[in-house]
Amino acid sequence: ASLKACDVVIFGGGGDLAMRKLLPALYHLDMDGLLAPTTRIIGASRRDMSAKDYQDKVRAALDEFVPASKEDTTIWSRFKERLSYVSVNAQEESDFARFNEHGVGDDERDAVFYLATSPDLFGSICSSLAKFKLNQARMRVVLEKPLGRDLASSHAINNEVLQNFQESQIFRIDHYLGKETVQNLLAIRFGNTLFEPLWSSAHIDNVQITVSETVGVEGRWGYYNKAGALRDMVQNHLVQLLCLVAMEPPSRMDSTSVRDEKIKVLKALRPIEGANAYTKTVRGQYAKGMIDGKDVKGFFDEEDSNPESRTETFVALRADVDNWRWAGVPFYLRTGKRLGQRYSEIVIQFKALPHSIFNDESNRELQRNQLVIRLQPEEKISLTVMNKVPGASEGMNLQPVDLNLSLTEAFNDKRSPEAYERLLLDVMRDDATLFMHYGEVEAAWKWVDGIMAAWAQTSERPKEYASGSWGPAASMALPIKDGRNWHDY
Ligand code: BG6
Repeated sequence: ASLKACDVVIFGGGGDLAMRKLLPALYHLDMDGLLAPTTRIIGASRRDMSAKDYQDKVRAALDEFVPASKEDTTIWSRFKERLSYVSVNAQEESDFARFNEHGVGDDERDAVFYLATSPDLFGSICSSLAKFKLNQARMRVVLEKPLGRDLASSHAINNEVLQNFQESQIFRIDHYLGKETVQNLLAIRFGNTLFEPLWSSAHIDNVQITVSETVGVEGRWGYYNKAGALRDMVQNHLVQLLCLVAMEPPSRMDSTSVRDEKIKVLKALRPIEGANAYTKTVRGQYAKGMIDGKDVKGFFDEEDSNPESRTETFVALRADVDNWRWAGVPFYLRTGKRLGQRYSEIVIQFKALPHSIFNDESNRELQRNQLVIRLQPEEKISLTVMNKVPGASEGMNLQPVDLNLSLTEAFNDKRSPEAYERLLLDVMRDDATLFMHYGEVEAAWKWVDGIMAAWAQTSERPKEYASGSWGPAASMALPIKDGRNWHDY
């Protein structure tokens, strides 16, 4: 497809997300020849800055986050030309005239407004854009998370945005959907005949989704303390992964078909409410400990912390999808900060053999087949199968062996793009398949609100866990209660 010329305006253009993720992603797209020659990138924020200042700031960010870019002066000189800056106070409507002066959206160009700001500003930014006719059909807004902190606040944000933009112009980003291996999950399920016939309670025993982080709250106590792991990670990233595993095959890979299927899964999530919350969820808060051989602080020793906080930095839970396909199959989810290792994976554990013909002493514990989809740090897919141990004298001795597909090795000449590259490209191409419809956000908040309400009624505090561990002991016990185990890293 030909590349569309676009003005990409980034609100919060000097902020952390822009510098760490968005501009490096745009740089890589330019490097790969995926930006139209006349595409422009316009930083916007309250600060007074010249285009030159902004270019310098972006250069410094690229030095830090894309060190290899220092070498390639050709790409930088092209990229730099695209960069400009407009100073606007998001709450000052008249400031938005500056976009018109800057020619944003002129000559039938598409425009993308990326709102990397606090969600409190989404409504007023959108209404000011509309005042200056920057909400025409060829213009789109991208909304960064958090999209509210519960159902009511997300409704309010959504309604404000909808006053000036149509649903089809609104791109709600969940960067996990842009990760290569997450998209590969769709390829595995729907590009092969091998797995889909097994993809149900008839053959799958349980599903596990782990997103384990080593970082702490990283100077974001204020935000994080109001959010917590359930809102910050489960409501969006983990639930989205669950949807891609659990959804019915969409009839085609387009935004309506895929998003409709995800919404059905979200609506089938069994509410976790009342006393259920005690048996089905575990909350934790990190204490001091050691990660990678270094001492790290506990949650309550972080800057700006408040000793009364009950915010969870870890959550593990058992979700159930109440539909025909998944009846009786638990989905165990867990995520936390300051855990022993940074990794994310989806594990599909298949059922035990109905009958073993290898029933001698050495083969008592035949391991079940297991499909592991690793998202990070490395991208790989592995399938555990039982094999005969080689050797004539060994008899029929079986042992689990992993069939490994390392995506890095299989496609060794290809750089694996960062999540934001794919997603920014999709916004420019006007393809919303990997973005969330409001129906998804809404259904996910409903489910999460139920859990929050149950937690709020208890006097129990989140359980402490040492930094560098795998979370509170109760998390280990969660699948054990059902006769299962977490997949070890
Ligand atoms: C963000 C959360 O959405 O995702 C952060 O707000 C978290 O708290 C981050 O650290 C994790 O993303 P990734 O891509 O590093 O796994």
